[in-house]
Amino acid sequence: MAKLKVGVLISGRGSNLQALIDACAGEDYPAEIALVIANVHGAAGLARAQAAAIPTTVIDHKAFDGREPFDEALSEALSAADVELVCLAGFMRLLSEGFVKRWRDRLINIHPSLLPAFRGIHIHERVIEYGARFSGCTVHFVRPSMDEGPIIIQAVVPVLQDDDPDVLAARVLAQEHRAYPLAVRLIAESRVRVANELVVIGDFRCEDGAMINPACE
Ligand code: GRF
Repeated sequence: MAKLKVGVLISGRGSNLQALIDACAGEDYPAEIALVIANVHGAAGLARAQAAAIPTTVIDHKAFDGREPFDEALSEALSAADVELVCLAGFMRLLSEGFVKRWRDRLINIHPSLLPAFRGIHIHERVIEYGARFSGCTVHFVRPSMDEGPIIIQAVVPVLQDDDPDVLAARVLAQEHRAYPLAVRLIAESRVRVANELVVIGDFRCEDGAMINPACE
């Protein structure tokens, strides 16, 4: 069967991109990366794509007069590469409503918190300041409001008493690298459907049980 063609948008490090590259290297994995776009010259993730012989392009938002023409250039590049699913992976630009509409239910994002808690930035600092006992990551379809949209998959990690933001970020990131490839796989296998703004997954499986933090017994 033909593999789902994925476009990945990045601005920096690209460790989630790497997780997708690694997943796509598996023969049985049902998706392939057709194009990586960065909005920043020299974004570290570009080298990761190049090392895997994936086409890359830089579309610098600073070269455009406003959000719409920039987003139009993104869309054109994605369409020219026959991209069917767009993955935001540390892409630090807000996308226009037009772009989000054009790619509706074909545009996903990964966010390092358990949405709808802790939208925005400086997430791990805020989770620790709040005293939350759990955090995690969310892969969701993108809607015009930031960090909002039907949730595909979440992974949960405990927040430990002496965590600092970097330690917590690393714990969450390890789960991001599992969750993003899984979400893309589910979509590529046509097991993900959006109904009434909720995601329904075909052949859904989840381990039962609860985690408790602290576990005081
Ligand atoms: C990740 O934490 C992701 O959840 C957020 O931005 C970060 C990107 O990291 N949206 P990387 O570039 O994938 O390493």
